[in-house]
Amino acid sequence: MKREFELKTTVVEYDSVGELTDQQQELMRRAHESGDKAYAPYSNFYVGAALLLKNGKIITGNNQENIAYPSGLCAERTAIFSAGARYPDESIEIMAITARSTEFKVDKPISPCGACRQVIAEYELRHSNNIKILLMGEVGSVYEIASIKELLPLVFNEKGLRS
Ligand code: THU
Repeated sequence: MKREFELKTTVVEYDSVGELTDQQQELMRRAHESGDKAYAPYSNFYVGAALLLKNGKIITGNNQENIAYPSGLCAERTAIFSAGARYPDESIEIMAITARSTEFKVDKPISPCGACRQVIAEYELRHSNNIKILLMGEVGSVYEIASIKELLPLVFNEKGLRS
């Protein structure tokens, strides 16, 4: 029998970064700082990510582009893989992501690409915890998302690999 069901995504929006907790504001500040060091000569779109680990450490990353375009990497995965390489046993608690462009004002939150969503999902699974995601542009409102499951419903995970 044919059945239709809907999947709900919840996003909390704050008018400005000043409404976040001090710790979250610091994380977003670190994401902006990291974005300034991105290597983005092809898109001129500078993305920064800052991760808060369970042990309190902050790991940052930014997008690294390449003349062979697909060889580049997004800020989110640069940061996550760095955290995974340096602190394999620490879960990621919060992830702050921000972007600016030299061509226009990024005044809305930017959202992780599909490949980054899959990688974030893997790290939630790896450490059995939800990763809170905070998204913003250069200025403007902030989106808070409780887990990547909100952004990647019907995620492919290890359950799909086994009977
Ligand atoms: N980019 C990121 O780093 N993260 C995102 O969430 C979206 C896109 C990068 C990839 C590329 O270097 C540039 O932004 C333009 O797509």
